[in-house]
Amino acid sequence: MTTNVIGKPLARIDGRAKVTGGARYAADFNQKNLAHAVIVSATIGLGRISMIDSDAVIRMPGVITVITHRNAPRLPYNVHKGSIDPAVGERLHALEDDQVRFFGEPVAVIVADTLDHAECAAAALPVSYAATRPIVEPSDPQAKPIVPEAGHADKARGDADGAFAQAAVKVDAQYDIARENHSPMEPHATIAAWNGDRLTLWSKSQYVVNEQAGIAAIFGIPPENVQVICPFIGGAFGTSLRTWPHVTLAAIAASQVNRPVKLVLSRKQMFFTTGHRPRTLQRVALGATKEGRLTSVIHEGTGETSRYEQFTEALLTATSYMYSCENVLTRYRLLPLDTSTPTFMRGPGESSGIFALECALDELSYAIGMDPIELRRRNEPKIDEGENKPFSSRSLMKCYETGAERFGWARRKPEPRSLRDGRLMIGLGVASATYPAYQAPSSALVRLLPNGIAEVEVAASDMGPGTYTSMTQVAAETLGLPIEQVRFSLGRSDFPPAPSHGGSWTMASVGSAIRAAAMAAQEEAARRAVGDQRSPVFGARTDDVEWNDGRLRRKGDASAGQPYGEIAVSAGEAITGRASTKRDPDVAGRYSMHAFGAVFAEVAVDADVGTIRVRRALGVYAAGRIINPRLATSQCTGGMIGGIGMALMERTVLDHRDGRLVNAHMADYLVPVNLDIAQIEAEFVPEDDPHVNPLGVKGLGEIALVGMAPAIANAVFHATGKRIRTLPIRIEDVLIT
Ligand code: MOS
Repeated sequence: MTTNVIGKPLARIDGRAKVTGGARYAADFNQKNLAHAVIVSATIGLGRISMIDSDAVIRMPGVITVITHRNAPRLPYNVHKGSIDPAVGERLHALEDDQVRFFGEPVAVIVADTLDHAECAAAALPVSYAATRPIVEPSDPQAKPIVPEAGHADKARGDADGAFAQAAVKVDAQYDIARENHSPMEPHATIAAWNGDRLTLWSKSQYVVNEQAGIAAIFGIPPENVQVICPFIGGAFGTSLRTWPHVTLAAIAASQVNRPVKLVLSRKQMFFTTGHRPRTLQRVALGATKEGRLTSVIHEGTGETSRYEQFTEALLTATSYMYSCENVLTRYRLLPLDTSTPTFMRGPGESSGIFALECALDELSYAIGMDPIELRRRNEPKIDEGENKPFSSRSLMKCYETGAERFGWARRKPEPRSLRDGRLMIGLGVASATYPAYQAPSSALVRLLPNGIAEVEVAASDMGPGTYTSMTQVAAETLGLPIEQVRFSLGRSDFPPAPSHGGSWTMASVGSAIRAAAMAAQEEAARRAVGDQRSPVFGARTDDVEWNDGRLRRKGDASAGQPYGEIAVSAGEAITGRASTKRDPDVAGRYSMHAFGAVFAEVAVDADVGTIRVRRALGVYAAGRIINPRLATSQCTGGMIGGIGMALMERTVLDHRDGRLVNAHMADYLVPVNLDIAQIEAEFVPEDDPHVNPLGVKGLGEIALVGMAPAIANAVFHATGKRIRTLPIRIEDVLIT
């Protein structure tokens, strides 16, 4: 490899398309003779539909059909169900019966010639219900926690309760994190078009092969009859990992009216029906010696779920490996409520669990009278004590050292309310971040064309991190080509399968597959060349030739060599390489693999009106090899801004009487905007991890959000002396009385 494209801070190769309108999103793929579908949503939280008067709207202008549970097709949903990934949720049912399970559940679909006509009829459709009172508040006495079905058993080492009782210093605190919605810019949208028993879906998805599998299964047709296309995603953060029932509805509508149908969810409908970060209630109890050695860690957490599905996330898993402690207990529960099912949202689980753990550690640092970074240093583990395995690499302390230096941590006076800037109370806070370094099975195809271009195809997605660019870099580097000679395509279900575009594993999984496929293509090209009389390497053994800047030559030969294109021309066809890769199970069994980070925040709190502003933030991450520092920085600062939202703004509010979301719009559901953001910086400490995967990458998407909220909450305590354990932190929480 001589091009060294990996590690270069290249601008996005799809940037121009995105800013000139060349990038097409799901709703942009308008088809000829397109009809428009609009969902009618339930206006009760629980009960059944007692009447829908389709006749009242069927003759309104432009209306083509009204689909309800009474006339919707009964779909088989049995063939090929096994190919759906259960990890993201398998329920795709729509209009199956007269039951209403949550406020906003679809009860009908209007299909009309124009969007206006469909919306008019949807607003006019008479629906009545037999309603009962839903249980939507965790504090409702009828809400009963349950043990999750699988994979989240209580985990204990030592005697955490006993050690806590004996501890010299104790913290025992409760945390409450609000439900959040993903709120991406691009709404969920699907255009469905049938051609006989073949279906094309232009659909917003982070997982096109799984959407293909799910929709094929529910309609009982072979997966190869369904094509899902999604070349661009306007933000998602997890909300498009699973196929929600509106995709089924779009496909049903298109089959009913026998023409292509476009269905776009309204912003309001997205809040109700496309998942959310579950509200969580947690308790963290820490026991320690006066010297700051942890003797007990107890972490209990409950996350809301729906009554019809169990959604679980990694709320407590990081607690077992973050710090050294002999006595650790984690206990995870679910709280089924009459709401829609939550889903993964950036830093799923870890961002909520780490908030509680890292705030409790900050409290402990004050209880002991020790600097919070020093407290973490004293409890830095040598191995993952939960799994009893070495870390493949762990550079948390290096992150703290680098960050403390850059942030000027040494100048911080520890006393709360000790720093002022005029009327503003200033506080500095810190917290750790972590996220697992996964690698999921992926495949890839590389095609070396006669014109010298290398085509690379994977059914991956790019929801914004820069997958197009980073994967092009991996292919270019492996093939020894300039990036201009690589064409990378993603977002089609007929490409070689990729895992879901989530869990921070796209770089590790898809990148490894592309690297392997590029090497397979090189092998094939070399095989062709040595057998080709016209080739300068004719007659050589394949292990006597080498690649140099995309050209093949005999080892030790100083000539430029034969380029890929020439070999393909001679072969009379493109040279292809395919690969399927996954993590070596042996390595996976031997090492604990995670990314780590240290996050610093400075807040300014107005003493009179209680407004909180993050004036400065710095995230220092150790995430293995960084493929593109420019995109990685952008990825991390974006995640940190999401963390500001979690800490100070984002909260989906339910009406406890009926489960209606009362702020299901961008005026009242607050997300950070430019004016909320001051100085945000991300930095990476060099980390060479030979175990995680051949590229040495750990992934960055989730960890970027994980430590931000606790760093801010700890800074708010430093500024005000008020320990706020609920998110988001509101003005009324910090108003000094
Ligand atoms: Mo991310 S929550 O895995 O899309």
